[in-house]
Amino acid sequence: MSSLIFKDRSKLSPRYIPTELLHRKIQIDLICDIFEPCTSSPILFPLTIIQILGPTGIGKSSTVIKCATILEKKFSEKFLKFKFVYINLKLHGGNKYTIYKYILETLMPDISCQGMSAEEMIRYVLKYLRVEKKYAIIILDEIDHLIKITKDLGIVYDLTRLNEFEPNESCNIKGIIFIARSKEFYEKLDPAEVSTLGRIPIEFPPYSQEQISDILDARAKEAFYQKTIGTDVIDKISKITVSEPVNGDIRYALDLLLHGGGLAESEFTDRVTIEHVMKIHNRIGNNIDIEEIQNLTNDTAITLLAIIKGLKISRKSSLKLKEIYLQMKELLKEKISDDKINNNIDDLLEHKIIAIKSLKEIKLARIMELEKVEKILEQKIKMNTSVKNGK
Ligand SMILES: Nc1ncnc2c1ncn2[C@@H]1O[C@H](COP(=O)(O)OP(=O)(O)OP(=O)(O)O)[C@@H](O)[C@H]1O
Ligand SMILES: [Mg+2]
Repeated sequence: MSSLIFKDRSKLSPRYIPTELLHRKIQIDLICDIFEPCTSSPILFPLTIIQILGPTGIGKSSTVIKCATILEKKFSEKFLKFKFVYINLKLHGGNKYTIYKYILETLMPDISCQGMSAEEMIRYVLKYLRVEKKYAIIILDEIDHLIKITKDLGIVYDLTRLNEFEPNESCNIKGIIFIARSKEFYEKLDPAEVSTLGRIPIEFPPYSQEQISDILDARAKEAFYQKTIGTDVIDKISKITVSEPVNGDIRYALDLLLHGGGLAESEFTDRVTIEHVMKIHNRIGNNIDIEEIQNLTNDTAITLLAIIKGLKISRKSSLKLKEIYLQMKELLKEKISDDKINNNIDDLLEHKIIAIKSLKEIKLARIMELEKVEKILEQKIKMNTSVKNGK
């Protein structure tokens, strides 16, 4: 049966990049302008490294891919051969070898790289591009994730010095674009590597509530039939999206649209309402329930309480481990080792109650009313303590 709601639900997929990325024009122009001269005189254009920073789900990857496709067109208008390689290091994972192999396979699909070392692969790619007069840009997305999990840090060093591999030859990889959530991965790099990352990072600001409404409105127009979703619903989703704990993640908003629409469809109605969206929000929003809190061990409950208190006091959406240790010590008024706290933090991570935001920083992974959960935790801890003391 055809849908009463969806014209094309794939337009809400996070993988779909709309023709126009609203409210990212400044960033698109900035990135394209950096590489624009390369499309007129590529030989003179030096290897250029840029980094893009900004929190989750605010269009970093989509914007950079959009820029790469714009540049692709500009190169082809000048009859130049150009290709970009996009690697999401979180999905792709791996080490230097697998990443270089992917670069080689994307740029040279007909070549087998069997038996080559990582360095040989890069040399091979550079030589191939030079001989074929082809140009490339490499986009390394979620570089912070790779740096966090790997000891093999040479990749940043290597890629930012591609032009030094063969100093007397031209380097036809013209750009490396690193994308990360924050600067914290710098901590794991040595100063020489940090300095090669490009002078100034381009920081993407989160969208405002109005901007999110504009974006969702445009996405909804592509996905839904006319008049199936009102501005009241879009505005409600935008409000949820700018607030804690979603903090601007457009992916979450798109999920609410998609599954809200799906729910309306399953009820054979022809309108998506705020109720539909709220039902989904409560379901996928992952509200923490009381039973789950009650099942935490006392130590883990105290750690969660410390985190909640820390978040409330700092009015931030994430806390540094240091801040949690401090809050914990404040709460317990007794000595506790950082290792012990780390174990409790691991426990909360395992329960998916908190999540790692970046190196040494965590955030809540669930939707919860801080005051309410705080009270429940305090009661639970008080009860456990009196049981322990035989009261
Ligand atoms: N301006 C925009 N217009 C339309 N859709 C957008 C816009 N910005 C982001 N989106 C959509 O939001 C989703 C998340 O965007 P994207 O993946 O680019 O975010 P990100 O900043 O790379 O997030 P992460 O840090 O998690 O990788 C995508 O589906 C994307 O299409
Ligand atoms: Mg991304």
